[in-house]
Order: sequence, then C-alpha cells, then structure tokens
Amino acid sequence: MLKNKIFIACDSSKTSKISKIIRETQNSKIKIGYKFGLEFLNSKKGRNFLSKLKNKITFADLKLHDIPNTCVSTIKAIKDLRINYLTIHISSGLNALRACKKISARTKLTGVTILTSLDNKELKEIGFDKEVKKLVYHQAKLANKAKLDAIVCSPQEVGIVKKVFKKEIITPGIRFDNISNDQKRVLTPKQAYKNGSDWLVIGRPITKGNIRKNMLSLINHLKV
Ligand code: C5P
Repeated sequence: MLKNKIFIACDSSKTSKISKIIRETQNSKIKIGYKFGLEFLNSKKGRNFLSKLKNKITFADLKLHDIPNTCVSTIKAIKDLRINYLTIHISSGLNALRACKKISARTKLTGVTILTSLDNKELKEIGFDKEVKKLVYHQAKLANKAKLDAIVCSPQEVGIVKKVFKKEIITPGIRFDNISNDQKRVLTPKQAYKNGSDWLVIGRPITKGNIRKNMLSLINHLKV
C-alpha cells in the first residue's frame, strides 16, 4: 500500500486542463485523489465532467458556510456525484455540522478550520480575538463533537488538532519551493507528513508549469 497520499487541487475552469492534470499526475509512488473546488464546480462543464469521472478518489471542496437547511439541501443536491470527501466550514456551527453529518452517508464530511491564507493579523481584522492556534484547537473540538469524518487545517496545526480529533487530517498550505502565493501558514510535504497529516492538498506547485516535472520534484523531495 502507498504510504503518501495527496489530493491534487484541480483549480481551473477548463475541463481540458483538468484532464491533463489527471493524466499527468498518475504515478506508482504516491496515492492520488482529486479535489474540485468552487472554480471548477461552478464552471460550465465542471459538474458534468465530475459526474463522469470514474475510479478516482474525489473531493468536493464546496466549503459550505450557511444555515443548516441550506447546507443539508446542497449535500442532497450533489448526492449523484458520489463524492468521497466534502467540506463544510466548522464556523457554520454545531447544528449545521450535525445536520449534515446525519445525511452525508458514505461521503466523508470534512470540517474546514481557519483558512491557510489567514494569519493572526488578518484574523484580528475580521473580528476574531483569539489567535489562529487557539481558534483551530477550539474548532477541532467542535468537529469532534459533531463526529465529522475529517478536518482540513494548516500543516502547522496538525499537532494541536490531533489532541482532540482522532480521525483523518487533510492539510493544504503545502510548498516545496519558495513561492507561497496567497498562502500564509505553509510547510513542506515532508514536514506535513512528519507532523501527522494523512492527506496533503497540493495545487499550484504541481499544476502550474510542467506537471510531470513537478511530480518528479515532489517524489524526489519525499524520497519515495
Ligand atoms: O495552489 P495551492 O496549493 O495553494 O492550493 C490549495 C488548495 O487548497 C486550493 O484549492 C484551496 O482552495 C484549498 N484550501 C486551502 N486552504 C484551506 C482549505 C482549502 O488552501 N484552508
């Protein structure tokens, strides 16, 4: 069995680009899943493309953040896609999390903590008075209470989350070069696994430029 597991963030509005990403990330060293976010799922052909994708581990990064009824209805509306993982912001509240968990069936309901693009300064700006680490710990406890199946957090906070959440941990904010783009709380793939991440999410470091070459750099970095 392959030890290292990675979700490739399929962030594009073009199905041709997504097909290329899927084709060129196939390999025998790392277990790959595919994450589809707001950009692709809202594109003209995105939903239809996903409905036809077979034999892949799929992740709908919808980041639901709404009242319980709307979150539940949305999950019901995409049931036909038979998604493996689906995200909801933990800040949607315990009632929304519990209501979604009740109907999510075989789809792993995955709670999103504080976005990896935010730092303490920005959190303050939007009105939170706790610092990132404390908030993430607090949210992980809530995810545990709601019996969620997985959590999304920064690789820097895996240790904190693990104290109170014993299921799968998925970490975006992964960089194996010096370009962090809009991400703030980043670590390398090696560091993320060392901290205990079960799955990494990697987008631009793989999908921008030469995908096959980027995959080789990742495999070299991990020495797998
Ligand atoms: O390109 P990059 O590697 O930064 O992509 C990270 C992916 O993970 C994006 O699709 C982004 O929407 C998603 N994500 C994130 N931070 C979170 C949750 C999801 O970056 N907290």
